[in-house]
Amino acid sequence: MDYYLAFILLAHLWSNTDCQGIPGYELKVNKTVDVQRGLCVRVPCTFIVPLNIRLTKGIAGIWFHFIEGSGQHVAFRVNNKHYSNGRFYLIGDVTRGDCSFIIEGAMNEDAGSYGFRIVDEETKLLYPDVLPNVQVTEFTEKPTISFARLVEGKEVTLTCTSPGRCRKVTPEISWIGKVSNRRIINYEITRDDGSRSFHSNITFTPGKSDNNSPLYCTVTLKTGVSTTEKQSLSVEYSPSINITIEGVVTSDTSSVTVKDGDTITMRCSVDSNPKASITWYKEDAVVNWTRSFQTISLTLTNVTPSDAGRFLCSAENEHGVINKTFHIIHHGEESKSKITGDNTAIAAAVGGVISLVLILVVGAVLFIYFRKKRQQNINGNLKDIPINDSDAIYCSPEFTTP
Ligand SMILES: *[C@@H]1O[C@H](CO)[C@@H](O)[C@H](O)[C@H]1NC(C)=O
Ligand SMILES: *[C@@H]1O[C@H](CO)[C@@H](O)[C@H](O)[C@H]1NC(C)=O
Ligand SMILES: *[C@@H]1O[C@H](CO)[C@@H](O)[C@H](O)[C@H]1NC(C)=O
Ligand SMILES: *[C@@H]1O[C@H](CO)[C@@H](O)[C@H](O)[C@H]1NC(C)=O
Ligand SMILES: *[C@@H]1O[C@H](CO)[C@@H](O)[C@H](O)[C@H]1NC(C)=O
Repeated sequence: MDYYLAFILLAHLWSNTDCQGIPGYELKVNKTVDVQRGLCVRVPCTFIVPLNIRLTKGIAGIWFHFIEGSGQHVAFRVNNKHYSNGRFYLIGDVTRGDCSFIIEGAMNEDAGSYGFRIVDEETKLLYPDVLPNVQVTEFTEKPTISFARLVEGKEVTLTCTSPGRCRKVTPEISWIGKVSNRRIINYEITRDDGSRSFHSNITFTPGKSDNNSPLYCTVTLKTGVSTTEKQSLSVEYSPSINITIEGVVTSDTSSVTVKDGDTITMRCSVDSNPKASITWYKEDAVVNWTRSFQTISLTLTNVTPSDAGRFLCSAENEHGVINKTFHIIHHGEESKSKITGDNTAIAAAVGGVISLVLILVVGAVLFIYFRKKRQQNINGNLKDIPINDSDAIYCSPEFTTP
């Protein structure tokens, strides 16, 4: 009931403006204050009194809102007692000449002119300047979404920060987007001056399919007062390749058969983010190269047998490299390879003949060898008969022969 009594008193003092305009009294505050509907604002304010005036601990500070020519108290502070209309708070330490105030969750009816008054034992003063003038504007400020590099398969956290700083009002922050398996943490940070900023972290692992998809962060101050910020996700991923053939009908994705005089275009289309450097190789030589396009072609006009071979399209960005091989087979090459087959047959035949000859030669050599060996054995056998000197003479064929 203290408060109520104080109000009666203050309301009475308000009409008693005899000290108005005395030199030495000064209010320093912005002439105009802009606040968006639903948001909060902190307005620094100081006042001075003439040097001969002593302010006591019991000094009261009062803010008035002038509506249709009469002042309505919206906030006061005395002896650690506070009053507020629920949106306007006097937060400064009046005993130290601080008349700073905040407006929380501004409403249209908060617009208009305000005035400050101090009431002390010696001083009952309404500051002469009607200050400040508060303007409540539409809520247009957007939340901010932090920027982070998004790479396929790598977990990332984005932070959405609500506009404004408030003490009493707590905005709600929510996310809308198609990213899956997301985790959301809402939190606030309190500053030294007591104001709080509001944040929300969304953590997810982006996929290739999330590329270019929108992510929205919505801040709701109170029913009907909300704001949304959009971020288009740019997800980086390694290249993938498709090779398509023009000029010759084929459903084969790895090779095509061409004939003399054909004109064929091989197109290597690359899907990647960021863009890849793409190279066409024939065997191991670079035959076409690009860095700035998503597709690179290779045209062979008036095909000859020398155009046949192994072609390779290679695409590379900082997230990976991919190679895809494509074979061009010349129609003539195929019949040539038949001739090669006949040659093999001939080679086989020749080989057979040579083998046969070899077998015969080896056979003949072995035959001769064994024949000779047998002869030697017959002679050897004779020698093997144990002999003594006399026997030797006796047994000698020369001597046995008559
Ligand atoms: C005070 O006025 C200055 C300049 O006119 C302006 O930039 C500032 O935003 C104002 N402060 C508030 C709290 O409105
Ligand atoms: C929110 O994300 C930021 C950036 O990744 C990080 O620094 C901060 O610690 C996170 N806060 C919470 C409460 O998770
Ligand atoms: C390759 O073709 C498939 C099937 O048509 C398609 O889904 C894919 O996006 C293509 N990739 C590139 C790099 O063009
Ligand atoms: C190399 O690629 C570009 C882009 O696709 C194309 O315009 C050009 O004709 C190609 N060069 C050859 C030799 O095929
Ligand atoms: C792709 O082909 C290029 C050129 O032949 C080669 O240098 C590279 O090692 C290949 N990379 C892979 C991953 O096969």
